Amino acid sequence: MKTAILITASAASLLFAFGAPKAADEAPANPNVAEAKGIIKQFGGQLVSELKAAIKSGGPEHAIGVCHKRAPAIAKGLSKSSGWDVSRVSLKVRNKELGTPDAWETAVLEKFESRKAAGEDVETMAYAEVVEGPEGKQFRFMKAVPTQEICLACHGTEVTEEVAAKLDEHYPEDQARGFSAGDIRGAFSLSKPL
Ligand code: HEC
Repeated sequence: MKTAILITASAASLLFAFGAPKAADEAPANPNVAEAKGIIKQFGGQLVSELKAAIKSGGPEHAIGVCHKRAPAIAKGLSKSSGWDVSRVSLKVRNKELGTPDAWETAVLEKFESRKAAGEDVETMAYAEVVEGPEGKQFRFMKAVPTQEICLACHGTEVTEEVAAKLDEHYPEDQARGFSAGDIRGAFSLSKPL
């Protein structure tokens, strides 16, 4: 019995230091990690369901407009209601203004790429750290966003002419094309003051 508890405890500290492997999901989670994950679930769930509905009603070229308006609005709403700063970032960004990572986020995104190269599952990849910044201590959490089949219409290598034209119109400096299923598209990035 004692051994089991010890294993769980070390799994929990591993989870905190290196991310969230599936097997450690049952370990007592850091409450901030649990809270951040809940917000991400809401953000991702709402976005994907709105995206699917928009694609269904008007195709991906119509859904770009929805994503353009709704993604930042959902992030803003969640930031307001939760007290966390909620965003999505990427090493190859589409919305430069909202999605450009800071130095800490860039380092984490780069670590995610090497963790993926080492064979880790992108679905559960995450990282948490308490960071001392100019405004005091912050709890920061990032969760990798895997590229799925449905994402390729707007982030893949072969987007249609209509989609390309719409993307160029809204995002003249778009870097977020050329992804394949399974790639890391970016990450949810959340922070809150401690
Ligand atoms: C209909 C086209 C479309 C589809 C399909 C789509 N996206 Fe996007 N994606 C966009 C647009 C447009 C933006 C920029 C939104 C904004 O202005 O904030 C974006 C931005 C993002 C960002 C924020 C970082 C950045 O580059 O600005 C991430 C992360 C992202 N998408 C992931 C995904 C994932 C994962 C999927 C599949 C589940 C997906 N997208 C499907 C159009 C799409």
